[in-house]
Amino acid sequence: MIRKKDLKNPIVCIVAMNQNRVIGDGNDLLWHLPGDLKRLKIITMGTPLIMGRKTWDSIGRPLPGRASIVMTKSVSWKAEGAIVANSFENAITEANIWIEANKKMGNKAIQNKIFLFGGAQIYEIGLEYCNTIEMTKVNFCAVSGSKFPRLKENDWKKTKLEDFEATSNSPEFSYWHYSRIIQR
Ligand SMILES: NC(=O)c1ccc[n+]([C@@H]2O[C@H](COP(=O)([O-])OP(=O)(O)OC[C@H]3O[C@@H](n4cnc5c(N)ncnc54)[C@H](OP(=O)(O)O)[C@@H]3O)[C@@H](O)[C@H]2O)c1
Repeated sequence: MIRKKDLKNPIVCIVAMNQNRVIGDGNDLLWHLPGDLKRLKIITMGTPLIMGRKTWDSIGRPLPGRASIVMTKSVSWKAEGAIVANSFENAITEANIWIEANKKMGNKAIQNKIFLFGGAQIYEIGLEYCNTIEMTKVNFCAVSGSKFPRLKENDWKKTKLEDFEATSNSPEFSYWHYSRIIQR
């Protein structure tokens, strides 16, 4: 059991979803957004990312400059470059250890935060521990697939950061910062 007051480093959620809260088809993302992966890299650089084993499979490699903490129920699963966690508590512990170890080594790029990286099963488990969501809203037609949990709208202060029009290659999308009104 994680007590919120015991969290050493804040957990920030990062997600891209459509108007129906769809985040992917279960194996991969459904869209390609210009600049979005670059932005995700800048925001998450120097942090541990907590992701589900299916999201790890869809990426297929560790993301450079960050820790890939992969949640699986399997006690034998392993992959090069992945830190395995069999529970959310275990993932948080590994994330805190990684931050401390990298700071001790003098890595100036390390941020004191942990990212809840998805997919749907991992958002479902970890969202209650997040006071912040970095959200990309994508205007994309899909009703089924892996979905982000339904948010209690009144719990969040929402700030739109940037808007992008659709192009011939990509749908319309926007960046939002969500902040929990009553912080946990
Ligand atoms: N748009 C976005 O921002 C975004 C971000 C991330 C992912 N995605 C998309 O989301 C989809 C994948 O999401 P998903 O929900 O199907 O899978 P997921 O959350 O990435 O991974 C699910 C796996 O996590 C492990 N797991 C779940 N609960 C656990 C627990 N309590 N303890 C330990 N391990 C646990 C299990 O692995 P085992 O089966 O190995 O036990 C489970 O199969 C893909 O389409 C991906 O592209 C989108």
